[in-house]
Amino acid sequence: MDGVPVQKLNDMSRTENPDGPAAEYWATEWARPVTELAVFAITPDGFISTWNAGAEVIYGYRPDEIIGAHSTVLLPDDPKDREAFEAELRQAREKGSSAIEGWRKRKDGSVLWASVVTTALVDTNGTPVGFAKLVRDESEKRKAHEAVIESEQRFRLLVDGVSDDAIYMLSPDGFVTNWNNGARRIKGYSAQEIMGSHFSRFYTPEDAAAGLPQRALEIAALEGRFESEGWRVRRDGTRFVAHVIVDAIRDDSGALLGFAKITRDVTEKREADKLLEETKAALFRAQKMEAIGRLTGGVAHDFNNVLQVLRGNLELLQTRCARDQWSMERFGNAIQAVERGATLASQLLAFGRRQALRPEPVNLAAMVRGTDDLLRRALGETIEVETVVSGGLWNAFVDVHQLDNVLLNLAINARDAMPDGGMLTLELSNAMLDDDYVRSLSDVPAGQYVMLGVTDTGCGMSADVLERAFDPFFTTKPEGQGTGLGLSMAYGFVKQSGGHIRIYSEP
Ligand SMILES: Nc1ncnc2c1ncn2[C@@H]1O[C@H](COP(=O)(O)OP(=O)(O)OP(=O)(O)O)[C@@H](O)[C@H]1O
Ligand SMILES: [Mg+2]
Repeated sequence: MDGVPVQKLNDMSRTENPDGPAAEYWATEWARPVTELAVFAITPDGFISTWNAGAEVIYGYRPDEIIGAHSTVLLPDDPKDREAFEAELRQAREKGSSAIEGWRKRKDGSVLWASVVTTALVDTNGTPVGFAKLVRDESEKRKAHEAVIESEQRFRLLVDGVSDDAIYMLSPDGFVTNWNNGARRIKGYSAQEIMGSHFSRFYTPEDAAAGLPQRALEIAALEGRFESEGWRVRRDGTRFVAHVIVDAIRDDSGALLGFAKITRDVTEKREADKLLEETKAALFRAQKMEAIGRLTGGVAHDFNNVLQVLRGNLELLQTRCARDQWSMERFGNAIQAVERGATLASQLLAFGRRQALRPEPVNLAAMVRGTDDLLRRALGETIEVETVVSGGLWNAFVDVHQLDNVLLNLAINARDAMPDGGMLTLELSNAMLDDDYVRSLSDVPAGQYVMLGVTDTGCGMSADVLERAFDPFFTTKPEGQGTGLGLSMAYGFVKQSGGHIRIYSEP
C-alpha cells in the first residue's frame, strides 16, 4: 500500500445525501458480501463501526455482537501484540497505510495468523475519520511455513546430535560449508575455525600431495558416491583411521550443489579387529599345540614303557653272556639304540608336558652362570657369550635340570644359525605381564614372571619357519642333523612350568 496516499472519499456522497451513513461506512460498504477477506472499519479511537461477512467467517463475531466494541478485543492477550497493533495504526495515520502480519484472536478465544492492511480514512477536509482494515487469515500458510522451519531445525538437531560421525557439507570445489558436533569431536576444529577451509587439510600431507582429495570428489561427482578408508589428520596433528563416504548432492535439474561427507573414526575398531585376529591366531596355535602335545605325550609315554622293558631285559641278558664278547657287543649296540629311543621319548614327553618335573625356587642368575662354561664349550670359539642380569631378580619356581637342557638346546640352535660366528646373549630380568599383554595370549595369566631371553646374531627365521618352529619334528636342518624336537620340548617344558615362551625373529 506504499505510495497510496490517504484515501479521499467521494465528495458527491455527502452532497447528494447529507444524512447518509458516515464516510467510514461507505469505505467498507462495498465489501459487505465478501467472505474471503475480513473488511471492516474502525473509528479514529479504535471502535469497530462496520463488519463484513468475511470478518464474521474469520473472527466468528456477528456484526451485532461486535460493532461498537473496541478493536482490541480482536487481539490476543500478549502485550507484544498490543504494541504491534498500535504501531500499525500509527503508521497508517502517518503514511496513509500499513501492512503487517500478526496474531489475532477469534470469538472462541483461538488465535489466527493474520495479514492485515490498515488504511487511514480522511474526509475531504483532511480530517481523519477512522481506518479501513483488510484482514486475511494466513494460519494455514503460517503452519506450513513453521512446519518447514521446524523440520529444518529438527534435521539440524539430528545432524548435530550425531557425535560418532562427522557430518558436513562441501561446496562443489571442496570447501567446507557446514559442520556438525561429531565433526568437531572427531577432527577437533570448531565450526568457525573450519568453515570455508578446503577439506584436503584433513588428509595426510602425503595423501594430499598424491591428489586423493580431488580424486574423491571427482569419483563422487561421477558415480554419485565415493567410499574409502584411510588415514586422516586431526587439528592437533594426530592421525586416525577414517571410514569416509562422500555423496554428491544435486538439485532437480542435476546441477552439482556440493558434497555431503560422513566420516567415522574407525581406529579403535581396526585395532580391535587386529587384536581379535591375533587372539584367534594365538588360540588356534595353542589348540593345535595342545592337540599334538596330548597325542605325542601319550605315544611317548607308552613308547618309553616299552623301551624300559627292552632295556631291562637286554641288561639281564648282558649279565648272563658276560664272557661271550660277540654277544656283549650286540647287546651293547642294542642298549645304545634303546638309549637313543629313550632320549627321543623324553623329548616327546617334554613336549607333551608329561615329563616328571621337580620344580623348586631358584635364582636363575646363579643357574645361568653355572652353565656358562658348558655353553662356551658347546658353542666353540667363534661365538661370544654375553650374560646380562638385571638387579633384584626374583626367584623362579622351576625344574633347573630341565631348564638347563632347554638352554643348551637354544644355544645349539643359535650356534647352527651362526656358522660364521657371532654373539649369543643371555638376558635375565623381572617381567610383569599385565592384562593388556596377556589379552592376546591364551596360555598365561597376568602376574610376575622372570624372563630369560636368548638372543643370537644369526640368520633368523622367516615367517614360515617362525610359524612352525615349535611343531615337533619340524626342522630345516639336513637329514640326520636335526630331529626338530629342540624347540618343541622347550615349548612343552615352559608351558608345563606355567610360563610363556615366544620367539621374536627377523630373517
Ligand atoms: N636361533 C635360531 N635361528 C634361526 N633359526 C632357528 C633358530 N632356532 C631354531 N630355528 C629354526 O627352527 C627349526 C626348529 O628348531 P628345533 O630346535 O625345534 O629343531 P632343530 O634344531 O632343527 O632340531 P633339534 O633341535 O631337534 O636337533 C630349526 O630347524 C631352524 O630352522
Ligand atoms: Mg634345535
